[in-house]
Amino acid sequence: MDQGRTEGSGRQIAMRQPAALGGSPAFPDGLAFARPFTPPLEAVTARLGASYERGMLTNGPLVGELEERMAERLGVAHVVAVASCTSGLMLSLRHLQAAGKVVLPSFTFSATAHAAHWCGLEPVFAECRPDTFQVDVDDLRRRLDDAGGVLATHVFGAPCPVEKLEALAAEHELALVFDAAHALGARRGGTSVGGFGDAEVFSLSPTKLVVGGEGGLVATNRPDVAEAVRFGRDYGNPGDYDCRFPGLNARMSELHAAVALESLAMLDEHLERRQERAAVYCKLLDDVEGISPQAVDAGDVSTYKDFTIRIEGHFPLTRDDVVAALAAEGIDTRCYFHPPVHAQQAYAHLGASSLPVTEAAAQRVISLPMFARLPLDAVEGVAEALASISEHAEQVHDRLSD
Ligand SMILES: Cc1ncc(COP(=O)(O)O)c(C=O)c1O
Repeated sequence: MDQGRTEGSGRQIAMRQPAALGGSPAFPDGLAFARPFTPPLEAVTARLGASYERGMLTNGPLVGELEERMAERLGVAHVVAVASCTSGLMLSLRHLQAAGKVVLPSFTFSATAHAAHWCGLEPVFAECRPDTFQVDVDDLRRRLDDAGGVLATHVFGAPCPVEKLEALAAEHELALVFDAAHALGARRGGTSVGGFGDAEVFSLSPTKLVVGGEGGLVATNRPDVAEAVRFGRDYGNPGDYDCRFPGLNARMSELHAAVALESLAMLDEHLERRQERAAVYCKLLDDVEGISPQAVDAGDVSTYKDFTIRIEGHFPLTRDDVVAALAAEGIDTRCYFHPPVHAQQAYAHLGASSLPVTEAAAQRVISLPMFARLPLDAVEGVAEALASISEHAEQVHDRLSD
């Protein structure tokens, strides 16, 4: 039931009765959280044809073409395609740091820590910033004892503070790897994410901006890292079957490369579309009480792999209340990254101490629907639903507590 309209910042937000209070759902047929964009099948098969007919199913010319195109686009000396971001992180870390501790944010996807663990490295978890959700470099600095490396994530596709981390790594002679799973197409100031640190590793899994089905890309300006990842993706075998170290099977297949090359052709359009959608979300949520979008540093370009909001501590509704109220509207959401990695069962043996900022962030975040083809009026519908939930916060809270 509409209850009149109120001004957002420039755009009009319709005030309506939240579905949690008996209003009709904003999306009666449901609104998906993400919809992977698959490039046209004919284009993929046409591209794959030559490799397929020659029986070159893995690590062939399409993989080479993808690597070249990406290196050019990112402005880095080397890109090595691998089977996943996780395996790319593992191979990079293994080469850069044979043993010891690696400091990384807890507010990240589990695979960031898993990669370190599988290299025999002990993860040491650092805090995040409450507004950007990026690793807190001052906190990380205090945890560097016995560490040989730092592994930082560009959270939700927004660049993390790379300059501070590079300065810290140089000062303490640490390996520095970026988990850039979300960040293909992001820019720090005028510079593409991809060339920072010793290596940056992207993911091509289905919810990313460039998809391969599965896949990862290791970008580096260091020839030794590129060589180690090339050998390492092939068991450690440089081609003579005399393995230089125990590697993995982390090759990328030609099938995946064909999908990724077609998907890459659409990256700029997808970046633009996501930014347009993020701008509408930001504009409409600007003066909605209790809700703040992830802060992105001025001058940076986020990929908006995820568009994530934080529910403020003083707000009468908890994050879970807002998720439930959005679900009543038919809106699918995710709570990335909850639980944070240090609190997951997989890392209980480390007995990590509490990370209050990270825990508060994990308790308060909601990632909203975001994908390139998300209709703009659906973005407006989600923002309107949030505005009306916020407007009726006390009543929604009472209803959900019944
Ligand atoms: C931050 C982050 N790192 C690593 C990964 C793992 O990527 P992949 O599935 O390509 O191994 C993901 C997956 O979504 C991720 O979100």
